[in-house]
Amino acid sequence: MWKCEHVVGAGLDVREVIDLYRASTLGERRPIDDEARFARMLAGANLVITARAGGRLIGIARSLTDGSYATYLSDLAVDAEFQGRGVGRDLIRATREAAPQAALILLAAPAATGYYPRVGFSRHESAWTLEALEEA
Ligand SMILES: CC(C)(COP(=O)(O)OP(=O)(O)OC[C@H]1O[C@@H](n2cnc3c(N)ncnc32)[C@H](O)[C@@H]1OP(=O)(O)O)[C@@H](O)C(=O)NCCC(=O)NCCS
Repeated sequence: MWKCEHVVGAGLDVREVIDLYRASTLGERRPIDDEARFARMLAGANLVITARAGGRLIGIARSLTDGSYATYLSDLAVDAEFQGRGVGRDLIRATREAAPQAALILLAAPAATGYYPRVGFSRHESAWTLEALEEA
């Protein structure tokens, strides 16, 4: 079994989290080779939920929220060894419960486009993004 916990992102062990991103495959699409930048991503996220099994970090939901209207779920990652057991669903539940009046918004990674409808999300036909001003 695993346990979900609301934590302070800056308090996490950056390398442990990078290992999880790698083990989930999400690391392929996140700047895991730039540890300083990755540490800023963790410290700047104000709603971070971790899932641990016997102390081992097996999942994370990293979000930005105003606590009352909108929560942007930037990263959802579950260690491949633990995928398909409900950890992702549990991380989403804990993220919603931390800011129950806020709607959850996200951009699905290609491997997860089939996942979000399974866990209750509806597709938004008018989502728009602007690329970052600076290259990493
Ligand atoms: C996507 C991810 C977070 C899902 O977490 P998980 O713990 O494996 O998912 P859950 O066990 O909560 O799955 C809930 C349901 O969705 C299904 N599901 C899981 N991954 C799926 C996928 N990629 N596509 C379609 N359905 C999926 C499960 O079979 C389960 O179905 P059930 O309710 O009928 O049992 C995880 O697989 C992952 O880390 N993937 C790689 C990283 C990634 O792409 N993250 C998303 C970034 S936007």
